[in-house]
Amino acid sequence: MTFHDLVVNAERLLADLRDLSVFGRNAGGGIDRASFSAADATAREWLAGRCAEAGLEVMTDAVGNIFVSSPRLEEGIAHHPAVWTGSHIDAVPDGGAFDGALGVIAAIEVLRTLHEAGTGLTRPVRAVSFSDEEGSFAHLFGSSAIARGFGVDQLEAMIGRDGARLAEALPSALTVSLADAAAVGPPPEGVAAYVELHIEQGSLLEASGVPIGVVTGIVAIGGGTVRFRGRADHAGTTPLDRRQDAGLAASEFAVALPALASATSADAVVTTGIMRFDPAGSNIVPGGAEVSVDFRDVELERAIDLGNRIAASASEIASRRGVGVEIEFEETVPGARMNDAVRGAIAGAAAGLGLDAIDIRSGAGHDAQNMALIAPTGMIFVPSVGGRSHSPAEYTRDDDVVRGASVLLRTVLALVRG
Ligand code: GLV
Ligand code: MN
Ligand code: MN
Repeated sequence: MTFHDLVVNAERLLADLRDLSVFGRNAGGGIDRASFSAADATAREWLAGRCAEAGLEVMTDAVGNIFVSSPRLEEGIAHHPAVWTGSHIDAVPDGGAFDGALGVIAAIEVLRTLHEAGTGLTRPVRAVSFSDEEGSFAHLFGSSAIARGFGVDQLEAMIGRDGARLAEALPSALTVSLADAAAVGPPPEGVAAYVELHIEQGSLLEASGVPIGVVTGIVAIGGGTVRFRGRADHAGTTPLDRRQDAGLAASEFAVALPALASATSADAVVTTGIMRFDPAGSNIVPGGAEVSVDFRDVELERAIDLGNRIAASASEIASRRGVGVEIEFEETVPGARMNDAVRGAIAGAAAGLGLDAIDIRSGAGHDAQNMALIAPTGMIFVPSVGGRSHSPAEYTRDDDVVRGASVLLRTVLALVRG
């Protein structure tokens, strides 16, 4: 048998995807698996066990990225630039079972299939699971560390969604220091190519009836937190015109955002996914309010421009309402164009399997946009039922999962051949 005749083991792939979904599953059926949480730790342990059973080797770097390799396939070529494939196993709060998990499990299945077939590859293939893609601490954290790097001071300043400091969460989860984490970067030999299989998370593929999307590019993403500071007062005795109501400032700000995005471009979107009042009591005028902001556009300059307008709007609302404001935005992550050769390899792989494919743009962020900074990069999308994602309703049919992994296997083989 030649490598070209290989097929993934559909049953094993689907079973692993189901088994991974147990970790962090909540009573409502959603998945709570933030990076460096207890659920993440058990998922990592399970993943390492599955790899070890298959004879694969697992290495975790100092920011929690997991690399899986086949010693047998790498004999004599271990230091050559490798083809990487993967995604992430962390999930948004109350997330679904496919976002990220599909790309990691399919990558391991591809590597396992190649490993079982024996030797003869001219480049190493590595499966990778990037840590904290969903930004419990920083959006696309693990791949950012590899492609762009973090200084110790940046790592020091990272506060998680639940208020924990990365400086405590990371060393206790991985027994590493922040200096170790700051030293993470691209491998010295480089990366030959990166390809990621992911669910679409939108409804274009389903609507077009086409099973495979060849991603053309990924949006730029910016955002962070805006904090309004007013004064806590009695809800019954403080006249309306004497209040410094941070909650109302935050609410007005959130309502104003969509118009700012629409005025920037037809592609721009903005979301306030978190709003917290402090104190939060039904009979207290909120003295403090915190709002998360996530803004995106296909063009980096437009995304940055939108970020500036959002900041200006927060300042204007705050000064008109007599409250203070503090704006803390992360550096806007640039979008990325996918590499033509990798796109060609994906399209060729789909055609070779008799599957229709269409070009598609990603409105979601992916580790691929960081990997595009250091390697020729591409992404394969498979349909999301109803376009649902970042929700327990997220679902991709078994046939589509298997099709996606099959296209991934053939793409990886094409990239190994170069
Ligand atoms: C990642 O899922 C993102 O697009 O935020
Ligand atoms: Mn996601
Ligand atoms: Mn994802």
